[in-house]
Amino acid sequence: MIILAVETSCDETSVAIIQDGEKILANAVYSQIEIHKQFGGVVPEVASRNHIKYITHVFEEAFQKAQIKPKDVDLVAVTYGPGLIGSLLAGINAAQAFAYANDKPIIAVNHLAGHIYAATTTAKMKFPSLCLLISGGHTELILIKDYFDFEIIGQTLDDAIGEAYDKVARILGFAYPGGPYVDAAAQLGKLTYQLPIPLKNDASFNFSFSGLKSAVLNLVNKAKMKKEKVVVVDLCASFQKVCVDVLYDRCEKAIKKYEIKQLIVAGGVAANKGIRDKFLKGFKDVEVIFPPINLCTDQAAMIGICAYYQQKIYGVNKDYVIKANPSLDL
Ligand code: KG4
Ligand code: ZN
Repeated sequence: MIILAVETSCDETSVAIIQDGEKILANAVYSQIEIHKQFGGVVPEVASRNHIKYITHVFEEAFQKAQIKPKDVDLVAVTYGPGLIGSLLAGINAAQAFAYANDKPIIAVNHLAGHIYAATTTAKMKFPSLCLLISGGHTELILIKDYFDFEIIGQTLDDAIGEAYDKVARILGFAYPGGPYVDAAAQLGKLTYQLPIPLKNDASFNFSFSGLKSAVLNLVNKAKMKKEKVVVVDLCASFQKVCVDVLYDRCEKAIKKYEIKQLIVAGGVAANKGIRDKFLKGFKDVEVIFPPINLCTDQAAMIGICAYYQQKIYGVNKDYVIKANPSLDL
């Protein structure tokens, strides 16, 4: 079965072609990062305009890479949420146009489920599974009892972790998106700064990162006022340690409570070296899965892979209109 998948929920314009739910024939991605860098973050209006501008090129690139023709496609899949409304609509319109023009069925896929199903390229799902989904827009702990049987057991009460990394990076003078710079700097630093541990005695599985980010900002501002120097690598190491420990703590508690067999760490922040090191060394009794980094960040292959499992379980409804849902949950 050949699935053509489209993903445009934020600032990546992506089209993938997937065979039988596992073979990635093409995963074309046009990233708008260079465009948004000058604004220090994603500007929704600019993002949707650029999706419209580039989507046909990305379709062409995917077909060229996969060496197939539109007639070979069996099913079209497109992200319908969560994400930026204008960005989602650009992808939905393109996918629907392709499906109608070529008389193909089309299904709507949840972006978050896509991130989770990217892990199936590394290992088969084993239930109950736990997914720590960490990106610029999401920080969620998801209990997976069966295929598409998801329960969000914890989430951030304020900033997503990637957002906190990017804000701390900005405070320290790194370019957007600064998460990878903070991670790299943290590898070189010592734990010399005391930062608050968010929701320290909280029994829930929730997260909070905005207080931690503000603590970094206050520390930097105070140092400036006193004309003291901030040791950036040490501050990055201290910030990263708090983040990694909090994520680890929530996963450890959930693994015990729900007798988890497999832990999936997905989303762009799963590229973080501190998280990978601690999780892979620390969790011995569960299978720990970090999908390949190119499948952790936003791209359409994960949507195509998810669509494969989705159609197997729920089938395909041929003629319905897909509505974007910016605040879609799992
Ligand atoms: O999943 P993603 O590509 O896009 C969405 O946000 O949906 O994630 C991007 C986020 C950015 O905030 C980026 O700074 C962060 O992931 N990120 C990292 C690292 N690599 C990417 N954060 C910390 N450490 C990293 N190594
Ligand atoms: Zn994402």
